[in-house]
Amino acid sequence: MSSPEFLPMTAEDVRRLRDRLDAAGRKLVFTNGCFDLLHAGHVRYLNQARALGDAMVVAVNSDASVRALKGPARPVNNENDRAEVLAALRAVDAVVVFDDERATRLISAIRPHIYAKGGDYTVDSLNAEERAALDAAGASIHILPLVPGRSTTATLKRAATPEKSARLCLGVLGSGVGSNFQAILKAIQNGTLDAEVAIAISDQADSPFLETARAAGIHAQFVNPGANPRRLSDAAQKEIAEHLQRAGVDLVVLAGFMKILRAPVLDAFSDRVINVHPSLLPRHKGADAPQQALDAGDAESGCTVHLVNAEVDSGRTLAQARVPVLPGDTAETLHARIKEAEHKLLPGVLAEWQA
Ligand code: GAR
Repeated sequence: MSSPEFLPMTAEDVRRLRDRLDAAGRKLVFTNGCFDLLHAGHVRYLNQARALGDAMVVAVNSDASVRALKGPARPVNNENDRAEVLAALRAVDAVVVFDDERATRLISAIRPHIYAKGGDYTVDSLNAEERAALDAAGASIHILPLVPGRSTTATLKRAATPEKSARLCLGVLGSGVGSNFQAILKAIQNGTLDAEVAIAISDQADSPFLETARAAGIHAQFVNPGANPRRLSDAAQKEIAEHLQRAGVDLVVLAGFMKILRAPVLDAFSDRVINVHPSLLPRHKGADAPQQALDAGDAESGCTVHLVNAEVDSGRTLAQARVPVLPGDTAETLHARIKEAEHKLLPGVLAEWQA
């Protein structure tokens, strides 16, 4: 006997669910998306969204609306299958399929108490119509960060190139001592990080950083930064992008790289460049962060691993670790303590990232 076909709910069903919850003083969470190939990033995001209220409805874009949003090759799985898989998750109480590119009409019909959105949005950058529908419904809006390194596009890429190893392929950039680079190599060596370093690039020809790469048998590449000591030349930016692309890296790691990257590196590796910085960002951006913490009289400092965007030390934070500022600390002693924390934090973030 074949199992009965899964039927998603209608907007009216969900509205009744919402009204029942409302009468009991409970809250319905609403979120929406394509959910084409479910991965751990989706599951974590959905669990966080569900925790905002007492029940959750997921609105899934229909096949036609996924095609309109993502092109003719998508969806990989049809709307009924996507709805059925989502409905099986612990975090999900109801699934509806909707045909528009935006969820505006559905939001107006369901009037959820809470709206959760994943990604690099801010409340202000939400679509204006959706925002108006949410405001009219009195819904509170929560933006949840997506899990970096987990995406449908990356999953499809891995599936399309099975000959390529699933091991994360790194390009590491550094300007100085290279202790973070050593921490990455150590984590690879002891098996806590399943990755390989395809290339190490420095703007400093004689840096210990490049020496470490050579000693480990890794392609060590000096890139001439150009005449201006403060600004990496356009030619250098281009050269770095080409080296990284030729080496086939999945993720670019700035481990003590003291120059600012721009196009074309950031375009070629959008959301795939991460940096470690010796402060609890957004406090103390730029150079000399440990000294800035001492000057500010902070009782606590730490380090941040974040995505790199065009603004200095401003991309989305992926992880932080705290360290105390101790009486008598100098910038050197504080920085040394922060670096110990960095040596755990950075390999940990990389181990979480999927090629
Ligand atoms: C690290 O503390 C890193 O956070 C910092 O440079 C140091 C490099 O040490 N980076 C920045 O300040 C970037 N703004 P290392 O060469 O021994 O890894």
